[in-house]
Order: sequence, then C-alpha cells, then structure tokens
Amino acid sequence: MSGTKIVAASDAAIAAAAALLRAGKLVAFPTETVYGLGADAGSDDAVAALYGAKGRPAHNPLIVHVAALAEAEALAEFDDAARVLARTFWPGSLTLVLRKRAGARIAAAVTAGLDTVALRIPDHPVALALLRAAGRPLAAPSANPSGRVSPTRAEHVSSGLADLVLDGGPCRVGIESTVVTLDGGARLLRPGGIDRAEIERVLGRALATAGDAARPHSPGQLASHYAPRARVRLHATSVSAHEGALTFGAQVLRGAKMEINLSERGDLGEAAANLYAALRALDDAGVETIAAVTIPEEGLGAAINDRLRRASAR
Ligand code: TXA
Ligand code: MG
Repeated sequence: MSGTKIVAASDAAIAAAAALLRAGKLVAFPTETVYGLGADAGSDDAVAALYGAKGRPAHNPLIVHVAALAEAEALAEFDDAARVLARTFWPGSLTLVLRKRAGARIAAAVTAGLDTVALRIPDHPVALALLRAAGRPLAAPSANPSGRVSPTRAEHVSSGLADLVLDGGPCRVGIESTVVTLDGGARLLRPGGIDRAEIERVLGRALATAGDAARPHSPGQLASHYAPRARVRLHATSVSAHEGALTFGAQVLRGAKMEINLSERGDLGEAAANLYAALRALDDAGVETIAAVTIPEEGLGAAINDRLRRASAR
C-alpha cells in the first residue's frame, strides 16, 4: 500500500481523525515522544487491525492513552504510589503498568492476556485534542512496523500503516516513554523520556530493573528492536569509508561515508530527539554499518543506549 494521507493537525483534521477512530480505523498522531498508531482501545476489530498493520506479535501488549487521570483510574487500580507518579509526570513521558480493573472496557488483545494494563497521558496538544475528540481511550504503539525505528516526524510513518497521519511536526522528546510497573514491586521495564532518577526521587525508593532479555517482564525488553536496515556497531573509536558514523559531542569519527553528530554541544536531550531521524538518514545514505560512539549512561543517555543496544542485536 502507498500514499497514506498526511494532513496538518488542524481542528478540522483532528475532528476527522476522531471520526475515523470511532469507526475502527487507524490514525497516526504525534506525541511528545514518538508518533503513535492509534486505535479505539475498546474495539476488538480495531485492535486486531493495529496488530496486523504493525506485524506486531500478539504477546506484546499496547499502551492505552487517555486524556485525564480519571479515565486512567476507570481502567486500572491506582494505589498511592501510582497516583503520586501520575500527578507528577502526567501529561508526560511516563507509562504506568498497573493492575487492570475488572470490567475495564479494553479489548483483550490490548493487554495480550495480562491482568495488567499500561497507561499514559501524552504531553502533546494534538494527542490530547484527538483523545478528547475521540472520547475514548486509544491504544497506540509507536507508528512503525514491529521491530523497526520509531517515527519522530509525520513523514517517517511508513506508508500504508495508518488510514490517516496527523502531522504535528517533529517530536520534542524523540524517544519512547519510560515504562514502570507497580504491579508486584516498582520496576523499570523500559528506560525512556523520563529519567529513572527523577522517578525514584518522587517514589522515595529505587526502581528494580526488569529481568534479562531471555525472560522479559515486558515484551518491549526483547533483545532486537528499534533496528535500522544497517548493522549497528557500538562503542566505535574509528570508522571506515563505507560506514556511517553516529557521534556525540566532541567524540567525532573522521572518514565515514556520512557522519551525524547527535548533539555537537553534548546535550543528551538533543541527542535523544535526533536519534531516530539520524538512524533513518544513515540508512537512506545506504551505509552497511552504523558505527556509534559511546554515549554517557546518564539522564536520557540510558534510554539512548538501550535503543542502540537493541538496534545492534540481530
Ligand atoms: O512513548 C511511547 O510510549 C509511545 C507513544 C506512541 O506513546 N508508544 C510506544 O508504544 O512506545 P510501544 O507499543 O512501541 O511500546 C509499548 C511498551 C512495550 O515495550 C510493551 O511491551 C510495554 O510497553 N507494555 C505494554 N503493556 C504492558 C503490560 N501490561 N505489561 C508490561 N509491559 C507492557
Ligand atoms: Mg515501539
């Protein structure tokens, strides 16, 4: 399929997108992290179409997006810790995995048969307007074919994935939300747009780290993910002429076919925002390998390194 319609996210376009969602169609929309591929979370058919479009394994559950805390509380059981995290970080790049309420109106496939549900309120005016206009929770994974690089611009959404793409410009954060479960102890399931240390400060205790890739607590922890076409080589200190170079700050790699510096001033937030577009650009340049320098494992660096590690695992 080709030629998916991309439209600027005007009020009229948002209203049209909401009508499509209510009719069971798939709409790609901007969030502050990455573009999501939205479907009516209460519709078995829409959610089945979503898994089908992405080629997503049925065991990998989806994040349910809502516009307000009260809507989230209707779907999941919030204890004090969950409420404090939600009040502090929502709208924002934190996804909470909580015990699903009995009778929550969510298609069974959304949670892949688990008794928990992942929830977040996105911090983007278009996403919030769309959620309000649709008047229902939206299941929304990143709007990319399963296992590939997430889109951070409307034009990065693969053609044919969505019935409509709402263009809200480039995503501010550029890397997916941090996923934390409070079910059975507080654990970090996926590093992301909100720094683990910030969450730990608010919780007043440390987050445990999720299990290894062999026995993932969260299917998003599977080893190979976020992968460009080119192979990714980590901790590079030199580069050859047929390789692409992904560099950071003062750590440049001379002599590559193409070099992209994620942030010349060494800012990890800027680097996160540029990461996926850089992987795409290096792929488009036709490099066989992407040689990435070591990124500091602090702040958003933890999420960048997580994505680069998974992108390198094949
Ligand atoms: O920033 C984001 O989170 C973006 C935007 C669109 O909101 N969405 C996103 O969705 O990254 P996705 O589907 O690409 O990643 C969702 C992650 C996966 O790692 C999935 O396994 C995990 O959340 N997840 C969802 N429900 C879960 C559950 N009940 N228990 C454990 N992990 C869950
Ligand atoms: Mg994804």
